[in-house]
Amino acid sequence: MGKKYRVGCKGLDESGKGKVIFNNKPFAVPYFLPGEKGEIELVFQAKETTARLISLDETSRSADRVETGCGTYEACGGCQLLHMRYEAQLAWKQKLVEELFPEEKQQGVIAPVIAMEQPWNYRHKVYCSFANGKKKELLAGIYEENSHRIVKIENCRIQHPLANEIIAAITAIMKKKGIPAYNEDRNQGVLRHVYIRVGEKTGQVMVVLVTGTREFKEKNLFVEELRRRFPQITTIIHNINSVKTSMVLGKKETVLYGPGTIEDELCGLRFEISSQSFYQINPVQTEKLYETAVEFAGLTGKETVLDAYCGIGTISMVTAKKAKEVIGVELNETACMDARKNAKKNNCQNVRFVAADAGNYMAALAKEKGAQKPEVVFMDPPRSGSDARFLQSMVQMAPKKIVYISCNPVTQKMDIDVLKKKGYRVEKMQAVDCFCHTHHVETVVLLSRKAD
Ligand SMILES: C[S@@+](CC[C@H](N)C(=O)[O-])C[C@H]1O[C@@H](n2cnc3c(N)ncnc32)[C@H](O)[C@@H]1O
Repeated sequence: MGKKYRVGCKGLDESGKGKVIFNNKPFAVPYFLPGEKGEIELVFQAKETTARLISLDETSRSADRVETGCGTYEACGGCQLLHMRYEAQLAWKQKLVEELFPEEKQQGVIAPVIAMEQPWNYRHKVYCSFANGKKKELLAGIYEENSHRIVKIENCRIQHPLANEIIAAITAIMKKKGIPAYNEDRNQGVLRHVYIRVGEKTGQVMVVLVTGTREFKEKNLFVEELRRRFPQITTIIHNINSVKTSMVLGKKETVLYGPGTIEDELCGLRFEISSQSFYQINPVQTEKLYETAVEFAGLTGKETVLDAYCGIGTISMVTAKKAKEVIGVELNETACMDARKNAKKNNCQNVRFVAADAGNYMAALAKEKGAQKPEVVFMDPPRSGSDARFLQSMVQMAPKKIVYISCNPVTQKMDIDVLKKKGYRVEKMQAVDCFCHTHHVETVVLLSRKAD
């Protein structure tokens, strides 16, 4: 039990939580909006103090506050902005980006965030975890933030509806047949997670059943039942994940039904996707993101382009039509294999893919005498951003343009600061709302060399 205080919300922090000052100390209160007043509870713990909004003074209710339409949004924690009008979410994301990049805001190079027309049910990649309750009842949902407690999720408003239905069906099958969830501590039980991917344009569906051990005697039952109930499912995979980890998928898998991959279309091209490969979760907004990135690059058809952190080669292939040649670099070998297959599928003959660490690849290319150096670099690193080796080697090769795509503007800003010190300037910047109702935002930045 914590202590209760009456406070007012001063603004939102970078994770969308309400900013509160109490006894001259700042606290972050989830689901509290600027200008609102209310009672909060502070729980003082050794490492950190957590804050929770207990009640809101109705007279101070923000005009941006809306009904969430979700019974579990606080416990789930996945949609940090669901209680805010969508337009207010967009304004906050725009402000977040502008505050991170004040120089660029002053220069007027930051365009208004691209909204999603129908910002619901956009997540085409969905997970559900399973656990056994105290009375051995089956629990299905997602892990509560920073804990191992399962929050039951039903009809999630941002997940693809078919994924919601498949998860409900798998849970019902487990309950009906008495199939237990996997117990990590005892290394016993069966299903640990289910992972679903839906192709937006093709309608193809992948279901990955993740067990904690090799043994999966119920696999035929799941395949029969799922195929009978959902003819849309085109492939089913058994994945084994016996490691104590927050990662959903393990390394070993067996295809139980179908080709083991699904296909989807983006920007008029067709892509094969393996379970282990990265693919953007919001295909509708991804098309806008890629179109922006390609437009920023302003390709003439004569350039050698490098697509670093290329995943299954989506950006490489979208740009290939407009460049002389494209080299994609990707660490994950499965994704790189998908990329090669995708190049064939789309008849892209001017694209090749290298399975390597992007920093190592860049360092080697920078040193190689006589090698064609890229004139344009697209880079789309993971949330943690790029690394010094990659940035230094890229600067050494002096590409005319760098198009930096990121799902984390904080690390993007750190990398861009390095590039600015090395003679690059930001020409354009565009945020795209790929993660509606959450505090995440995707950004595309065009950098060019000052001397050019
Ligand atoms: C944000 S995803 C972008 C993928 C792709 N550009 C897209 O839009 O689908 C980042 C990718 O970088 C890859 N990656 C992570 N670390 C890497 C590294 N050190 N070198 C190369 N690729 C890496 C991941 O496997 C992932 O496919």
